[in-house]
Amino acid sequence: METLPNIAIIGATGAVGRECLSILEQRKFKHGTIKLLASSRSAGTKIEYRGKAHTVEELGPRSFDGVKFGFFAAGSDTVKAFAPIALAAGCTVIDKSSAHRADPKVPLVIPEVNPEAMAELKGRAGIVAVPNCSTIILLVPLTPIRKAFGIERIVVSTYQAASGAGAAAMEELESQTREVLAGKAAVPRVFKEPCAFNVFSHDSTMNPASGKNSEEEKFTTESRKIWSDPSVKVNATCVRVGVMRGHSESVCLTLKKAVTEKEFRASLEGAAGVRVVDDRAGNKFPTPLKATGGDDVLVGRIRPDETQEVVGSGVAAAYRGGNLWVSGDQLRMGAALTAVKIAEMLAK
Ligand SMILES: NC(=O)c1ccc[n+]([C@@H]2O[C@H](COP(=O)([O-])OP(=O)(O)OC[C@H]3O[C@@H](n4cnc5c(N)ncnc54)[C@H](OP(=O)(O)O)[C@@H]3O)[C@@H](O)[C@H]2O)c1
Repeated sequence: METLPNIAIIGATGAVGRECLSILEQRKFKHGTIKLLASSRSAGTKIEYRGKAHTVEELGPRSFDGVKFGFFAAGSDTVKAFAPIALAAGCTVIDKSSAHRADPKVPLVIPEVNPEAMAELKGRAGIVAVPNCSTIILLVPLTPIRKAFGIERIVVSTYQAASGAGAAAMEELESQTREVLAGKAAVPRVFKEPCAFNVFSHDSTMNPASGKNSEEEKFTTESRKIWSDPSVKVNATCVRVGVMRGHSESVCLTLKKAVTEKEFRASLEGAAGVRVVDDRAGNKFPTPLKATGGDDVLVGRIRPDETQEVVGSGVAAAYRGGNLWVSGDQLRMGAALTAVKIAEMLAK
């Protein structure tokens, strides 16, 4: 008889943890028992999963006994403290936090991009790091372009949703929107700036020396690790927008060779995890609302960048520069869905 893996969600009450539960249910992930774990604050909370109410337990040293896959959707300090305990109990750690991403011994995996990075993990407990949500939403559409033509440089500007900062930030956007519409002052709590009706520099740690925030730095370090390409250049500017869910990114590429607009577009058609939404006549393109709840990164505004090298002219003109506009559900593709796909691959 088939032995099904027991699983645990660490951070089950949070934005990513709850999405993870809904994806496990939607994809009918086969498992034995499930443990919903969180801090003492929400121990005892009931969460509905597969038609049954499950009680959230406090994360502790015995939480991983008999568990095969742990979906870690808590902050990186909690993950760092409990990953060794999970591993010692034979539980594979699928880590959504940033705790292990830079560790050279830990594979940093996007299933559509570099599943081979976790080849050594099959059959034994280990750690797999899930990249930052913005990196996933960028690299899923860029990987087929890179495979076809090579990518030398990326300039990316993000438009990141409040939910990227967790359940408390979602609550803040909702309550602040009500307050502002009622004529009251917006009082920031989770963010340093008002998030309702606003756009502001990303709330991750700012490096005063470089002028970059850590979200911007992650684009470079993570892209290089995932693509095993230390030469790729990434120039990122990350901001939050008053959107509840779904990150968007404006992307300008410098390709390694000049390609026609038709070739550039063709590299994206049918690519894994990508859906082209590029209706120039109707002026309809990706939006975070269209991406919400979906399993693909939406890609549109596909066009050449004529300010970079152009070879030839007319319909045969080939361009080193290409532009895109992408939107993706960062709680799904950027976090929980990617984690569940990793578990599906490891469970095979
Ligand atoms: N939100 C996103 O779009 C997104 C995308 C990619 C990656 N991530 C990463 O995913 C992780 C979770 O993010 P989130 O947005 O889901 O945050 P969140 O909504 O704030 O949820 C955090 C979860 O962690 C739990 N937790 C906090 N301290 C704990 C402790 N000491 N022991 C056990 N559980 C604890 C919380 O439980 P309580 O209810 O008990 O507080 C809650 O379930 C973070 O590392 C984040 O960087 C988030």
